[in-house]
Amino acid sequence: MKQKNIPTNPKPGTQNPEPGSSRRGFLTKVWGVLGVIAGVEILAVSAGFFSPARQNLANGSQKLVEAGNVGDFKLNSVFPFRSGKFYLVRLSDGGFLAVSLKCSHLGCSVLWNEEKNKFICPCHASTFDLVGNVINPPAPRPLDTFPVIIEEGIVKVDIGNPVKRFAIDNSQIAYA
Ligand code: FES
Repeated sequence: MKQKNIPTNPKPGTQNPEPGSSRRGFLTKVWGVLGVIAGVEILAVSAGFFSPARQNLANGSQKLVEAGNVGDFKLNSVFPFRSGKFYLVRLSDGGFLAVSLKCSHLGCSVLWNEEKNKFICPCHASTFDLVGNVINPPAPRPLDTFPVIIEEGIVKVDIGNPVKRFAIDNSQIAYA
């Protein structure tokens, strides 16, 4: 007599997968990997935010650009130094401020508009006042600055140490 092949119960762990279960497993793994990546990014962003280096972008060595004699700069005026990537602003009280020409939104170069008395970003139309305060968003914060040093009547700008600004204060202004 011929014996029939009777299917037996498979051992645990050797069962045929349910239809669709391998796809579910794959998706679970993908979500796991994405979760790990998101976690790493959140940690990196948090570390950057709380690190003191946030205030000093480069924290590098001094790289001085000689802008000129104090007397060369009219009060209440803006002087572009495109190669140094800054505008030297002479305030009405005689103070100097070196404002970065890099927009705080996505980094386009802002342009000084003499007639409108403001910096205008050509990319998304953010505008900034004479000292770099945001007048019109989407720029989220003021324009960055560079330290200004005045030695023996010569105005120098340290482009090696850009300073990220969240507010304007008098410590950013240099006087002769
Ligand atoms: S880069 Fe300046 S407004 Fe967007």
